[in-house]
Amino acid sequence: MDKRKLGRIMLTEEEVQKKVEELAQAINQDYPDGEVVVVGILKGCFVFVADLVRKLKADVRVHFMQVSSYGDGTESTGEIIIKKDLDIDIAGKHVILAEDIIDSGNTLSKLVPLLKSRNPASVKVCALLSKPSRRQVEFEADYTGFEIPDEFIVGYGLDCAEAYRQLPYIAVVAEEE
Ligand code: IMP
Ligand code: MG
Repeated sequence: MDKRKLGRIMLTEEEVQKKVEELAQAINQDYPDGEVVVVGILKGCFVFVADLVRKLKADVRVHFMQVSSYGDGTESTGEIIIKKDLDIDIAGKHVILAEDIIDSGNTLSKLVPLLKSRNPASVKVCALLSKPSRRQVEFEADYTGFEIPDEFIVGYGLDCAEAYRQLPYIAVVAEEE
């Protein structure tokens, strides 16, 4: 696939940063202290997790999983593949799953029960972005940053065929010519 062109900016760097601050404040109210395991869902989460954890007050541990429900295209396949599992035992731990965007809901609706089956003290989900109109399965995060319309976006960790992850803002991908 050729690299798609960028379209308009949907969320500026300032808007994203303000929202991350708000999400961190909400998490800090619920977890003012004690140990919290932040589990980022690679790869899209990496910028979000880096910014979020630096604003948290709890005793944070950071771990990552890599789950895939996408090829290089823009449509969910409905199945998830665990490409990288956790290398720690989460039994008895308070877990916060950090996801860049909830789209069909397939990834998290399969991942949350999987993690719960490992007997953590709690599992909550923090998603920077959500496209509610795209859900194939019902799923709502405990902390949601922005609800956005059905447009394919890139930047702040999100990619289109691996490109554009480094943008500090979030932009729409242009229509194919
Ligand atoms: P879900 O299982 O359909 O909810 O998939 C969520 C995953 O799809 C996210 O973690 C992203 O990796 C990817 N995704 C969904 N929408 C977009 C988008 O607009 N841009 C980039 N990646 C997206
Ligand atoms: Mg992702």
